[in-house]
Parts: sequence; C-alpha cells; structure tokens
Amino acid sequence: MTQAVLDIENLSVTFRRGGVPVRAVRDVSLRMAPGEVVGLVGESGSGKSVAMMSAMRLLDEKRAEIAAKRLDVDGRPVGGLGRRGLEALRGPVVSYIFQDPATALNPLLTVGWQIGEGLRRHRGLSREAARREAVALLAKVGVPAPERRVRQFPHQLSGGMRQRVMIAMALSLAPKLLIADEPTTALDVTVQAEIVRLVQGIQAAEGMAMVWVTHDLALLARLARRIVVMYAGRIVEDAPADRLYAAPAHPYTAGLLASTSRLDVAFADQKPIPGSPPDPALDPVSCAFAPRCFRASERCRAERPELLAHGGRRRVACFHPLAEAEP
Ligand SMILES: Nc1ncnc2c1ncn2[C@@H]1O[C@H](COP(=O)(O)OP(=O)(O)O)[C@@H](O)[C@H]1O
Ligand code: SF4
Ligand SMILES: [Mg+2]
Repeated sequence: MTQAVLDIENLSVTFRRGGVPVRAVRDVSLRMAPGEVVGLVGESGSGKSVAMMSAMRLLDEKRAEIAAKRLDVDGRPVGGLGRRGLEALRGPVVSYIFQDPATALNPLLTVGWQIGEGLRRHRGLSREAARREAVALLAKVGVPAPERRVRQFPHQLSGGMRQRVMIAMALSLAPKLLIADEPTTALDVTVQAEIVRLVQGIQAAEGMAMVWVTHDLALLARLARRIVVMYAGRIVEDAPADRLYAAPAHPYTAGLLASTSRLDVAFADQKPIPGSPPDPALDPVSCAFAPRCFRASERCRAERPELLAHGGRRRVACFHPLAEAEP
C-alpha cells in the first residue's frame, strides 16, 4: 500500500468514571489507503466516535487516556503534535463532520464567516476572497441562494441546511480524509438521503478518503466499498462491502444485517440480536459478544478471539466464523 491516509495500530482509549476505567476503544488497528471509503458501523456506544476522534486529537485528554503503537494521519504521528501541528492537521489534512451541527457551529457568527475561517487562516485569503469562496462552497453543497445565506446565522437555517454548512466547512480546505460521524442521524429521512447523495458525489469527484460512521448498515450499502464493524470497543469484522453483505463472517455482523429491514439479505430470517452490549467498565477474558451469540462455545467464554486475517481480504475476530475464508 502507498502511504496510508490513516494508520492506526493497537489504539486503546480509556476514560475514568469515578475511579473505574471505561475502556471505550480496545486494541483497534485500521489502515486506509488514499481515496478509500470505509463504512464504520456498530451499535451506539461501540467506540466508533472515540476511535475516530482520537485520530484528530479531538478528545479531552485530561479525561481520555490514549495509547497506541501507531496513530498516523497522512504519515504524521498525531500523538506528539502541539498546537501548531494540530492546526496544520485539522482542515487541510483531516476534517470531521459531527452528528449535530448545532453544537459544532458558533451561534454568534455568520455561516459565511465560519466557512471562511480556515481559508483566511490557512490560505491567507482576504475577508472578501474568503466570503466569495464561502458562497461557492455553499453552492457546491446545494444551499439555495448562497449569496444571502452566507450572511445568516446558524439559527436562521434548518437542520438540513446547517448540516450542509458543516459539510462546506469540512471541505473548505480539501482534506485528504473526511470523517463523517453519523452526519444524517438527526435529520429526517428525505434530507438524510439528499445529504448522503451530496457527500457521495463530492467524494467521488474529489477522491478524498472518507470514513462514514453509522449504526445503520443499510445506509452504507450505497456508500462504502469496505465495511468495518465495531463491537464493545473492538473491530470484529473488516471486509469488502459486497462480501460482507453477501456472507457476513462474524455473528454480530450477521445480527446487524438481520435487524436491517431495508436490506434483502440471506440472514433475513434471523431475529435481531437479543440482549445488549457489555458494560464498558468490564474487561472479560472472553469474547465480548458471547452472551448474545447463537454460536458461542466453551472456548468463546474462556478466551478472547483476536482480529485475524480470514482469507485475503477480510479480518474477523471470531472462533467460529459463519463464512468460509476466501482468497
Ligand atoms: N467523554 C467521555 N467520558 C467518558 N466516557 C465516554 C466519553 N465519550 C465516550 N465515552 C464512552 O465511550 C464508549 C464509546 O463511545 P462512542 O465512541 O461515543 O460510541 P459510538 O460513537 O460508537 O456510539 C461509550 O461507553 C461511552 O459512554
Ligand atoms: S467468538 Fe464465539 S461468541 Fe464470539 S462471535 Fe465468535 S462464535 Fe460468537
Ligand atoms: Mg458516535
């Protein structure tokens, strides 16, 4: 692989709740090629956001303990970056779209000013040039009457329009990696579909790498060529999307597919996954999915399955995978 755009090895993130360690991310390794689109999926609380926010050093490091053998974005080890290094990273190299644009936008500044901020700072654009560029970016993300909209404040826009503003901000410096963290979850279904189409179109045109974080596998069917599944802080399956949908290897992936009503899949006769994810404060020496797994054996309750290659293009953490290894 050429220089990876994201290269994470053995990342663990632990919060302290009272005196109790909460292991949000456990031993995650993930390498992405430039231009690659990855769908990162898992139930709420599985560590998706914490893992991705670590790559941009967005976590409050007074509360989060981050340990990794490697944590590189576009070849830069981000762990050692100071304020200036982080400024040079966020925006031009990697940018993040959050689920809730209301919290990420400043209510006191016009959307034009906020979109133009990175351009003024990183590209040295004048206020006027940055404003013109903001208008162009708003037009690109499908905001009608962009000339008028740049002068408005976030509260004057609908949720869907605010999310488009966030996307315009995230794209303003043409990052090599875009992390879209459940960007459509707060929106109604029609707007969701529009945003997905919009981001998909821009990604295809500009060729940046993208991680689309979601709990919804059906949404990823159209978006991602590669799917990474997280459970209880760990990656449990990583596979090409077509293989994963046709024949999931991890029982949890199969369960996710089964509870995805909009997909016509082989496992559709299976019931949604019973039970709930384990308490992240626990650290059992077993498969974390065992209490919910219909294939669990004695071994699964006594030993933890490592994430290992399963054929040439898949990684799976399971002693009894459902799908055969393929070349
Ligand atoms: N700032 C924080 N302080 C303490 N625990 C946190 C914090 N952020 C996330 N967590 C915990 O880490 C785990 C993973 O969270 P998160 O990555 O947000 O899940 P996901 O994005 O998959 O829904 C959860 O158990 C969550 O409660
Ligand atoms: S290791 Fe065992 S319990 Fe865990 S997912 Fe595989 S079969 Fe199920
Ligand atoms: Mg999240």
